[in-house]
Amino acid sequence: MFTDSLETLRRRRSAKWRTYPADVLPMGVAEMDCSLAPPITAALRAAVDAADTGYSAAQPDLGEAFAGFAARRWGWPVDPAAVTAVTDVGVGVVELLRMLTRPGDAVMISPPVYPPFFDWAPEAGAQLREVPLTAEHRLDLPALEAAFAARPAVYVLCNPQNPVGRVHTHDELAALVRLAHLYGVTIVSDEIHAPLVLPGARFTPLLSVPGAARVAVSVVSASKAFNLAGLKCAAIVTADPRMAALVDRFPRDVRWRTGHLGVLATVAAYTEGDDWLDALLTELAVRRAELGEQLRTRLPKLGWQPPEATYLAWLDCRALGEDNEPRELFLSQARVGLEPGTRFGARGAGYVRLNFGTSADILNEATARMASATGR
Ligand SMILES: Cc1ncc(COP(=O)(O)O)c(C=O)c1O
Repeated sequence: MFTDSLETLRRRRSAKWRTYPADVLPMGVAEMDCSLAPPITAALRAAVDAADTGYSAAQPDLGEAFAGFAARRWGWPVDPAAVTAVTDVGVGVVELLRMLTRPGDAVMISPPVYPPFFDWAPEAGAQLREVPLTAEHRLDLPALEAAFAARPAVYVLCNPQNPVGRVHTHDELAALVRLAHLYGVTIVSDEIHAPLVLPGARFTPLLSVPGAARVAVSVVSASKAFNLAGLKCAAIVTADPRMAALVDRFPRDVRWRTGHLGVLATVAAYTEGDDWLDALLTELAVRRAELGEQLRTRLPKLGWQPPEATYLAWLDCRALGEDNEPRELFLSQARVGLEPGTRFGARGAGYVRLNFGTSADILNEATARMASATGR
């Protein structure tokens, strides 16, 4: 599933493999070192062989494929007609924020969170407000209630949450939905990591929570779980006419901006990708355990809470001390490229994010190098 050979991986020309010089192990950008699921390779090959590389025509295939996937994986009934293709999750969220806010309205997020969350509200002309997660990486419901009382227009939820790997519980989401009703706030739920919930945790689609349909809209994609980010396809899912009307009001051109190969690959992933995905999740759980053991034995000063989802580890390096910027330390001394914690919010100082969506050998090499840089 994962490629061991750095020589093979370095032939990739994607961002992960272009960000650093060749002597650096890139463990930052959220791409996996896997091969593609065979049904996806077949779909893409067939399209290229047929010169089928024009504009996308996503419906009805995308909606039907996602509805099937959501029903099988999470028991979530989705109306295929309520699924709208967009270029990527970022475009989907920004277009929704344009519909849901007026200039100067507030949009709330809960750091530490995927860096573009800080950019999407300003891109749509809104003001950003932050209500951080608790120290245990849970939604801070009392602080959210206080912030909702100031009537922001939108709360952008990250479920599961990158970089901490938290899968928000049904009860937490139900409480959030109650607050949204009480204070008239719309929730935009970024569920890109939902297929990557690891054994031991259970994903709750926000729109499956009673009452959520009237106050929430979800943005989904196969791009993280099936490693398709470069193909540009995501989808907005609604479950209520008022929310569907928002999407209908998008500029007409938005529907032409989704990648055709992205749609074809996504449909293959959602309809024929379950076995591959199950094998991936099994292997990621093994990698998570290996990382835990390596941190314990080689990097005992680093703290972490094993993620419930994603292939991302949020490492607390504050015990390494004083003026060490851990990302710089590991880059300059270990030649391991990690994401600096501060990109995920101010409280990320002293943290790094490590991508363990890779082979056992490469992960082993990365932590061995990191250990030598800390001198234990
Ligand atoms: C929470 C989250 N949302 C969105 C994205 C990016 O999605 P897209 O490339 O579809 O905009 C990522 C990428 O890692 C992510 O972690």
